[in-house]
Amino acid sequence: MIFKNLLKLISISVVSALMAFTAQAADIENGKVIFQQCSICHNSAKDGSAKVGPNLWGIVNRAIASDDDYKGRYSAALQGVGGKWSADQISRFVESPQSFANGTYMGFAGLASAQDRADLIAYLNSQSDAPIDYQLSEDPQTSKTAGPANIGKLFRAPGAEKTFIYCSACHSERIVTQQGLTKSDWQELLEWMVDEQGMDEIEEPDYSAVIEYLSTNYGTDRPNFPTKN
Ligand code: HEC
Ligand code: HEC
Repeated sequence: MIFKNLLKLISISVVSALMAFTAQAADIENGKVIFQQCSICHNSAKDGSAKVGPNLWGIVNRAIASDDDYKGRYSAALQGVGGKWSADQISRFVESPQSFANGTYMGFAGLASAQDRADLIAYLNSQSDAPIDYQLSEDPQTSKTAGPANIGKLFRAPGAEKTFIYCSACHSERIVTQQGLTKSDWQELLEWMVDEQGMDEIEEPDYSAVIEYLSTNYGTDRPNFPTKN
């Protein structure tokens, strides 16, 4: 009896230690929020159809470029990679699609934050018939790109730091996050900011970086529209 209780106690503490580790390492809820950036082009529902990109149900450990519904549409670059999507490979692909598979059709700028990528992969792994155990080789806690998910209220992605510096000089960056505009509307708005509101013209290459950042992360689909505070 004592022995049985002891076993029970051990297994409970092992399980809770594992859960604590997982919860600390990756936040699935945040991953779901990050996935909104992907859902413009990807469905992750079971039996969901392909959109601009292939369906991502069960993507962790799935053979690369193997969605039947997407056959004939994959780039030669991605088809040439071979093997299965490990958690690490997904992380590298999402960090910089072109560096991972030069010539890929995935028109996504990249997700700089290691923590966001870790959270995203935890979410993707949950979108599966058979979630797997995996460990990322890069620890988000000690990664160079660790840190708060956002820059001020701006979504962390390439160009966010620059945009923050230019656009929070006169007003809170929050009014930027509340807009959802096309690229040409962002360009018009910045002209208006220069012509009517006294903003200094932003020089290249910064101008393009800011416009890319704004139109990618604050487009008309409003993937990063602020919901809290
Ligand atoms: C603008 C559209 C777009 C966005 C945004 C986008 N993707 Fe993609 N994705 C694609 C396309 C197109 C492909 C096919 C690429 C190819 O064939 O080279 C793809 C392929 C993939 C693949 C490979 C799937 C397979 O079957 O091998 C993964 C994994 C993936 N995307 C994950 C993501 C994640 C995660 C995000 C969000 C962080 C994201 N994508 C954002 C368009 C997009
Ligand atoms: C030199 C000061 C200044 C800088 C720098 C500046 N803005 Fe503004 N911005 C203003 C002023 C002033 C207003 C308010 C206009 C009003 O409400 O009458 C404004 C308003 C806005 C609005 C709200 C527009 C609306 O009425 O719906 C947005 C969005 C915006 N700015 C984006 C930006 C972005 C993006 C940047 C960086 C590229 C930026 N601003 C940099 C001065 C500035």
